Amino acid sequence: MATPAPVSKAVIPAAGLGTRFLPATKAMPKEMLPVVDKPAIQYVVEEAVSAGLHDVLMVTGRNKNALENHFDRAGELEAVLSSKGDDEKLQKVNFATGLADVHYVRQGDPKGLGHAVLRAKMHVGHEPFAVLLGDDIIDERDPLLPRMLKVQSELNTTVVALLEVDPSQTHLYGIATVEPTDEEDVVRITGLVEKPAPGTSPSNLAIIGRYVLRPEIFDVLERTEPGKGGEIQLTDALQELASGPSWSGGVHGVVFRGRRYDTGDRLDYLKAIVQLAVDREDLGVDFRPWLTSFAAQLGAAEAPQDGEDG
Ligand code: UTP
Repeated sequence: MATPAPVSKAVIPAAGLGTRFLPATKAMPKEMLPVVDKPAIQYVVEEAVSAGLHDVLMVTGRNKNALENHFDRAGELEAVLSSKGDDEKLQKVNFATGLADVHYVRQGDPKGLGHAVLRAKMHVGHEPFAVLLGDDIIDERDPLLPRMLKVQSELNTTVVALLEVDPSQTHLYGIATVEPTDEEDVVRITGLVEKPAPGTSPSNLAIIGRYVLRPEIFDVLERTEPGKGGEIQLTDALQELASGPSWSGGVHGVVFRGRRYDTGDRLDYLKAIVQLAVDREDLGVDFRPWLTSFAAQLGAAEAPQDGEDG
């Protein structure tokens, strides 16, 4: 097999309806929800850039303006901050503007993640490319994408990120059946199923929102019928590659053991804010003691009182 072209493009699907976060997402994409003081999408673009992917295609839907504006100049705001000499805030405003070469394509109807990825076909062309879900944050202290890019270039296959989840959670994810390889953190995927019914999951290895795909995925997506939830599922297309002919190169998984936050889920969103805020230089020093005392109060309130059972 020929050496694959190096990956230079990142595709970020951000066109979902975000219904789990209503009403916050009625007029704003969930990818713009702040995680501490940065929208989730900025963490994701920063991750792509630090892995060397400066060409970013965002797949947007309704309410796309906030996303475009965030990565564009903000003339009025810049002028006010500049006239006040507030360089620190000015730097924060400008950082997102120059971060990456950001392009946009509309999805139209949100017909599923597979459909969103297919919208990237023209922009991507015939190269392998990365997909980073716009509401999924990987903690920068636990880099994942560089490892996936390395595995992709070595094996020239399709690579997905896998996370071991609690068996009670498997019905929320695409789940992989795997075989080991010589590399401890890399597995060969022999089967994939989207959101298996509780009790039927083939494993507890869940696909999370990072992929390095070969361009052949577009041909497969073009013929992928709507699956779970009536949506065109990326997992279904990956299943075809995993079980398919040798030209497809198969599918491998990189098993991730670091910190990951699904900001599209309300509970995970709350956890993300707390976990990131406690380690922040500017906020942690005040936030940590407050959180410790708050948790102690909660613990005391929940502890059984004298005379109660338990
Ligand atoms: P989700 O399944 O989490 O998105 O998709 P959703 O449908 O917006 O969420 P809920 O369940 O209604 O709350 C994962 C990622 O794929 C994108 C989303 O924006 C998110 O980043 N996506 C999903 C699309 O771009 N298009 C789609 O049609 C579906």
